[in-house]
Amino acid sequence: MVELSVQTFNEKVNSLIGQTGDFRLTEIWNRCHAHLKPFDEFLPLPDTQYKTCPLCHSDRAIEVVAHLGFGADYWAENGLVRYCCECGEYALPDERYQDYAAQALLWAQHHGCKTDYSQLQRVDARLWWTTPKVLSIEPTTKCNFSCWYCVGRHVKQEDISLEDFAKVLEHFPSLEAVVLVGQGEPIMNQAFFPMVRLAKQRHLRVLSVSNGSTFSTSNVQKICESGIDYISISIDSINPDTFAESRCDGNLQQVLRGIKRLSSYRDEHGYKYPVLGIKGTLFNHTKDQLVDIIQLAKEHGIDILEFFQPLNRKKSYVDIYPEDKKGLVEEFDEVQEIINKGYEMNILPTADDFSACENIPLSKGRPNGLRKNCDEEWMYSLVSGDVIPCCQLTAPVDTNWNLINNPIDSILMDKHYERTRFNLFNGLFPPYCEGCYQTR
Ligand SMILES: C[S@@+](CC[C@H](N)C(=O)[O-])C[C@H]1O[C@@H](n2cnc3c(N)ncnc32)[C@H](O)[C@@H]1O
Ligand code: SF4
Repeated sequence: MVELSVQTFNEKVNSLIGQTGDFRLTEIWNRCHAHLKPFDEFLPLPDTQYKTCPLCHSDRAIEVVAHLGFGADYWAENGLVRYCCECGEYALPDERYQDYAAQALLWAQHHGCKTDYSQLQRVDARLWWTTPKVLSIEPTTKCNFSCWYCVGRHVKQEDISLEDFAKVLEHFPSLEAVVLVGQGEPIMNQAFFPMVRLAKQRHLRVLSVSNGSTFSTSNVQKICESGIDYISISIDSINPDTFAESRCDGNLQQVLRGIKRLSSYRDEHGYKYPVLGIKGTLFNHTKDQLVDIIQLAKEHGIDILEFFQPLNRKKSYVDIYPEDKKGLVEEFDEVQEIINKGYEMNILPTADDFSACENIPLSKGRPNGLRKNCDEEWMYSLVSGDVIPCCQLTAPVDTNWNLINNPIDSILMDKHYERTRFNLFNGLFPPYCEGCYQTR
């Protein structure tokens, strides 16, 4: 064993860093997986995110996360590597490299082997070493409401068939929970209850989101008998006029009666499920109602405060808003602040409490705990079976990512899919993310 102190190792590294021109990280990266590279067309980043390229010295380098393989066995994980948009080369940022070096050294000493810079042979920047367990799938794009802010009113109106839903489940053997939601009212799909039953037969947890307008006596009975675990219901306002103004064709009293009917039926007939949640969209002119909405929901039998959201400011959403409403997105931060305070009121248990108690993973803002800058921990599918890298997309990105036609593993390992996830993970957003709050 060759003993190296941290000091001598770092001196060695520093001397080698002086020769970065000879070190072919780009060659190693491309040999490992050339497809994992930043989008050429990613949205401009704030100036502060651009670094100096150690090779060409331009100020156009960005940092991406990679794992570096030293020697036969050792991986220094989640290190930052610089990719230069100017010269197209990958390089080790010198001030960061010492962290890898120190880790490599400690590992080497612990295992009794010699590790140094010259043994950096492999790069891995893939994200999928675990398979997602939760799929959110759109049962339909149809709806009996026509909320003015809903992108679902501007796409083709269609359902997924029970047969195609069954194929999706077959193609996703690692699945533990399925969330029936999208840009439509799930119950409008005639196959909604058969889909729930099918998923329950496969021992999946089943969740859904509803506008709460269809909880008739017969539907309430079907909902409880289906075994569905959780339904969250959207309420935007406690004022019937304001409610009707945003949820066009919506009748607040009818929704409240439906919630009461469902919670009473469930309790009177001894069903444990569905647990009922409340969510909704808040505006500047309704933000002061948040506490009253939660209180009213609780009085009608709602169990969980899921979440409220301000009006979506993503460009593809704003494009469909009526001209006189587009300016409302400017209220985003103000409304979000009120929403955050609402969570602190402790009027109802939160979605986190529900998730912990029922052992159903929630979307935590990172895919499998890996991605820091975009919203998805779960997988999302459109009504067409096309997987989308974020729930806020309404059109497929790549039709090869289709769960009706392809097993999940082939999608996860598709080179374009991996590259897309790699970029989102690194906060490098493609044009279709424009305007999303995550890109700010
Ligand atoms: C798309 S809907 C689908 C499920 C069901 N039809 C409903 O309304 O609850 C799911 C949630 O997204 C919210 N939503 C829809 N479009 C939105 C937008 N442009 N901005 C913010 N929230 C929106 C709705 O208020 C609802 O709470
Ligand atoms: S109820 Fe839901 S799906 Fe229907 S129009 Fe409103 S937001 Fe869209």
